[in-house]
Amino acid sequence: MDKILIRGGTPLKGAVHVRGAKNAALPLMAASIMAEAPCTLHNMPCLHDVFTMDKLLSNMGMEIEFTGRYMTLTPAGLTSPEAPYELVRKMRASFFVLGPLLARFGRARVSLPGGCAIGTRPVDIHLKGLEALGARICIESGYVVAEGALQGANYALDFPSVGATENLLMAACRAKGVTRLTNVAREPEIEDIAHFLNGMGAQISGAGTDMITIVGVDSLGGAEHVVMPDRIEAGTFLCAAVATRGDVTVFNANADHLPAFLDKLRETGAEIDVHGSRIRAAAPNGIKAVDIATRPYPGFATDLQAQVMAMLCCAEGVSHIKETVFENRFMQAAELIRMGADISLDGNTAIVRGVPRLSGAPIMASDLRASASLVIAGLMADQGATAIARVYHIDRGYERIEERLAALGASIERVRE
Ligand code: UD1
Repeated sequence: MDKILIRGGTPLKGAVHVRGAKNAALPLMAASIMAEAPCTLHNMPCLHDVFTMDKLLSNMGMEIEFTGRYMTLTPAGLTSPEAPYELVRKMRASFFVLGPLLARFGRARVSLPGGCAIGTRPVDIHLKGLEALGARICIESGYVVAEGALQGANYALDFPSVGATENLLMAACRAKGVTRLTNVAREPEIEDIAHFLNGMGAQISGAGTDMITIVGVDSLGGAEHVVMPDRIEAGTFLCAAVATRGDVTVFNANADHLPAFLDKLRETGAEIDVHGSRIRAAAPNGIKAVDIATRPYPGFATDLQAQVMAMLCCAEGVSHIKETVFENRFMQAAELIRMGADISLDGNTAIVRGVPRLSGAPIMASDLRASASLVIAGLMADQGATAIARVYHIDRGYERIEERLAALGASIERVRE
């Protein structure tokens, strides 16, 4: 298994291009199941999770060509509305195929994803919503078996789950009549998917607000779409810049997608400049502690909480970080403490007391965003080297991260074992 070796202490300097958003690319690929002609996605990121979705769809008979930054998905040969456990257990986002499969075939058999490192992550909201649209659902041997012709309905989600909103939005496009979904997630990725689906001929309005209306249509055609920039990747590079007292400009980003995060960075005393699709962050004199609570969009993204925790380890003062979206998302804390951080946990709040420095250590990644947090800590540590094991977690969501950080002046390399 690969390791990432870092000798920290160098302020990151320069510019980096953000890739297309993983959390948009995966449901966009799933949405193409409903098309009756080929779809092309531009600005696709080259990530393990994208390869896993590629395998899952190919297994169902989708023809996929993935060349450089664009992907063509031809659904003509789709025959099998089934997502097997072997693939779904690798990536929860595989569950996004449930709504599109049901809409296209009138039936689907999709493995339940099970828990993961950051929490139990149930799918009850997805299932209740599909039942509200008329699906008959049962659980058989670890699989969700769903059947039935979908009918438009009014449905209020118990919680604005991103995945449930996406599954229901996609399914409702082919339901008979009008669907009104309320208390939905407002994440920018939902708007991106709605754009793509409308390009295919769907009639969706309200994406990006807490109520989405979908007028069902009989068929959907092909479409061409440019995947939105990855706001979490942009945020991760900006955190790394501030954490190392560096000065980095992120290109091809959208500052409007990072409102709460950029406000918090400014509150630390970091310099933040936005010019069009460029965001620059600099913190030559270090930063002050801040308090953060994760919330559904437009609140502070839970997917940036771990990276910000690393960044705050050497801030002046005491920071409180409250995680309200997932129940177990402080996996990085124990590893940061091994590097000299002063962090104590109290339920869903982490108290981070700033220390003057971190030191390098052998550490282990536990999930995608926790591993990004450990990379940032490694870049901050100005004594000794950091060796991060289980870096396959980071490859799920960041494309060649070590090469891109090295281009910003970091001493970082991947060691293949
Ligand atoms: C998506 C993102 C993930 C991000 C998360 C929250 C993708 C591929 N992944 O995950 O990176 O961290 O949004 O911004 O887009 N819940 C239920 N029942 C359900 C569904 C969710 O209780 O049926 C709970 C979850 O356990 C969790 C919370 O709701 O505590 C948020 O989950 P959700 O918004 O669904 O996250 P995902 O769509 O899985």
